[in-house]
Amino acid sequence: MSVRQRRTLPRLLGAALLLAAAGISCVGAAPLSHSAADSTTRPLGQVVPVPASVTPAGQPYTLTSATRIRIDEDSRDSRAVADYLAGILRPSTGLSLRVVDQDEARGGIRLRLSGTEKSLGDEGYRLQSGRDGVTLTAHRPTGLFRGVQTLRQQLPAAVEKRTRQPGPWKVAGGTITDTPRYAYRGAMLDVSRHFFTVEQVKRYIDQLALYKINKLHLHLSDDQGWRIAIDSWPRLATYGGSTQVGGGPGGHYTKADYKEIVRYAASRHQEVVPEIDLPGHTNAALASYAELNCDGVAPPLYTGTAVGFSSLCVPKDITYDFVDDVIRELAALTPGKYLHIGGDEAHSTTHEDYVAFMEKVQPIVAKYGKTVVGWHQLTGAVPAKGALAQYWGLDRTSPAEKEQVAAAARNGTGLILSPADRVYLDMKYTKDTKLGLAWAGYVEVQRSYDWNPAAYLPGAPAEAVKGVEAPLWTETISENAHIDQMAFPRLPGVAELGWSPAATHDWEAYKTRLAAQGPRFEALGIDYYRSPQVPWPAAR
Ligand code: ACM
Repeated sequence: MSVRQRRTLPRLLGAALLLAAAGISCVGAAPLSHSAADSTTRPLGQVVPVPASVTPAGQPYTLTSATRIRIDEDSRDSRAVADYLAGILRPSTGLSLRVVDQDEARGGIRLRLSGTEKSLGDEGYRLQSGRDGVTLTAHRPTGLFRGVQTLRQQLPAAVEKRTRQPGPWKVAGGTITDTPRYAYRGAMLDVSRHFFTVEQVKRYIDQLALYKINKLHLHLSDDQGWRIAIDSWPRLATYGGSTQVGGGPGGHYTKADYKEIVRYAASRHQEVVPEIDLPGHTNAALASYAELNCDGVAPPLYTGTAVGFSSLCVPKDITYDFVDDVIRELAALTPGKYLHIGGDEAHSTTHEDYVAFMEKVQPIVAKYGKTVVGWHQLTGAVPAKGALAQYWGLDRTSPAEKEQVAAAARNGTGLILSPADRVYLDMKYTKDTKLGLAWAGYVEVQRSYDWNPAAYLPGAPAEAVKGVEAPLWTETISENAHIDQMAFPRLPGVAELGWSPAATHDWEAYKTRLAAQGPRFEALGIDYYRSPQVPWPAAR
């Protein structure tokens, strides 16, 4: 490490030493005094999530009226990424940024797909920037899309605005080579407690894309509302979806709506993971069809916020006809690999019934070609081969419960980590936070970032951890501004835990990079929580 870095970047020293110890050549952010940098050039690698490898060098690239976005001939995937990038950059820069075949121009922004760059994997990319242009190289189109997020964050925050801004538009010189730590980097939105429209979900998808999230988990059913049309059981949506917490009108997605969400997520290189929560959290279904209840009597719709009072009738055959129909229709709408069957807080189901239910239902998921995901209570039954368990415990969760999950992980069940006292985005930041709940405690920004997924659950092998997910439950959340307040700025930290190498983990360095996201949130119209833990730039 150079003397200059040490003198100019003392706060990053700890992270740099960690990286050096890990054999990584460069800290994940360039020194602030790099010769190529000036006040309009963000130092290379000062982005979230921090890249795996950053080597600043040479001059920045400046976008001009001559800049083209160059793609490989005949690649529809590259063209889609190029059009997306142009769509972000054109309104603010006022530049034409025509998308052209790579042979039609020189320099500029080149999006290059390379069949030989296998080490970049499905999502990795290399960004090379210098005076003549920026080249993004990837093995797969998703890698180009992830690289575009880095490129976007290297430009000034004003690039996110939808009206013409003054510029200049510079990308610092050097090379970033970047691949994700985990393949599963999720965010969950509960559309059951409060319903969110297709447009609202798309807005969240766009926000998630900026931080390289690749799974959108939709919690589609719960006691308060069933949100997806199922043709063979139509009252689920039309009646079971007709209200929400507090008694508002609720709503549901038609199949066309849902396909549009899936399509839009795919255009942002995100896979939708649909959840139907079973066998508890089913009051909306039980209210819609009397025959699903053990006593044959439909309960009323529910608009409160209690949990654990509902259960499908495990001994009845019709329960499995119902589950089969729902999973068949949902699987047919789902191009992704996973189907989440809930399994949490089944307090009104006996343990024997729970085990029997999961034994019958998991094969139905497999029958329709999907892989089971369940909340970690699934490990109290026998998880199907290949299933993932989503851990949502807390520090204070009993050692026995933690060990049950760890034992399943040792036995081959993959883990998605969503510890509620770290990454539940509906937890209040402090006692003064107006929105949200506090049953898992207060979760300030540092707390949500400062943990290591690989070493989190005692006794669980690091290889069992497939990734992280930040759930947003919506008992108290009903508007875009609410989503913004709770997800930002914690969500980018969870995204970084999922993407960046463990050796880059450093709160002091992270909070500086996060602070630089503040003006970007503002430019994007994200109404974020101004945590006092983060040195936000003074308002301009
Ligand atoms: C959960 O928070 N009940 C998964």
